[in-house]
Amino acid sequence: MNNNPANRRLQVFTDPAALARAAAEEVTRRMIAAVRANGRATLALSGGSTPKVLYALLADEPSFRERFPWAETHFFFGDERHVPPDDKDSNYRMAKEAMFDKLSGTLPPENIHRVPAESPDAYEAATNYSLEVLRVFGETTACFDLTLLGMGPEGHTASLFPGTTGLRETVPVAAAYIEKLAAYRITFSPSLLKNSAAILFLVAGKDKADTLATVLEGPSEPDKYPIQGITADDGETLWLLDQAATAKLSSTRS
Ligand code: 6PG
Repeated sequence: MNNNPANRRLQVFTDPAALARAAAEEVTRRMIAAVRANGRATLALSGGSTPKVLYALLADEPSFRERFPWAETHFFFGDERHVPPDDKDSNYRMAKEAMFDKLSGTLPPENIHRVPAESPDAYEAATNYSLEVLRVFGETTACFDLTLLGMGPEGHTASLFPGTTGLRETVPVAAAYIEKLAAYRITFSPSLLKNSAAILFLVAGKDKADTLATVLEGPSEPDKYPIQGITADDGETLWLLDQAATAKLSSTRS
């Protein structure tokens, strides 16, 4: 395989439900370990539709809900649409309905750090979210214990779309106008994503199969396929895939 970072691992599951269950176990274990090591955990959530089942599992299923260290985990968003928090397209609203709303009295509201995407100025929202990230980490940089990411059908991840300015950003959080969406997005920068202790990609569905094969087995072209440029520099990069998404792979070895 081309562009195969040594720290990359792939796991394939029969269907999205099995993938979500495996992801829930992986996330729960990593948060428990982070709290044990540091007294708290930091988790960057992905948006889109794939992780919704995962978030619901964590909050609904006792085997996860009762183990997950909710009170010690700080939740962030790896990207957000430039919409208010109650908008149907908001990643925060998706996570709130699937997970946060089921945890009142368990998950302290101050542990949820949403992007202030209601700001009329996307760049101001990005700057303020950068400051929030750095405030919580109390550092000049941030290293998330775990960052969840998906892959768009054309190979974007977070809101790092092909050919957009976000790919060049070095600030923690940036805004970018996405021509194909005719909309602004706010996104973690490549450097912030790559500084994670671990990255968990969740990719499911046959509509991702062609791009996944190109991304994992083709030449490295991160401007064209931004997800290729995102690996945990000093950590682990794990891809949880369903069989439909791996249909075009020549091999599912890491
Ligand atoms: C977003 C996501 C985005 C998503 C991919 C995959 O805001 O849409 O952060 O990067 O992860 O587009 O989305 P699906 O899971 O819906 O396929």
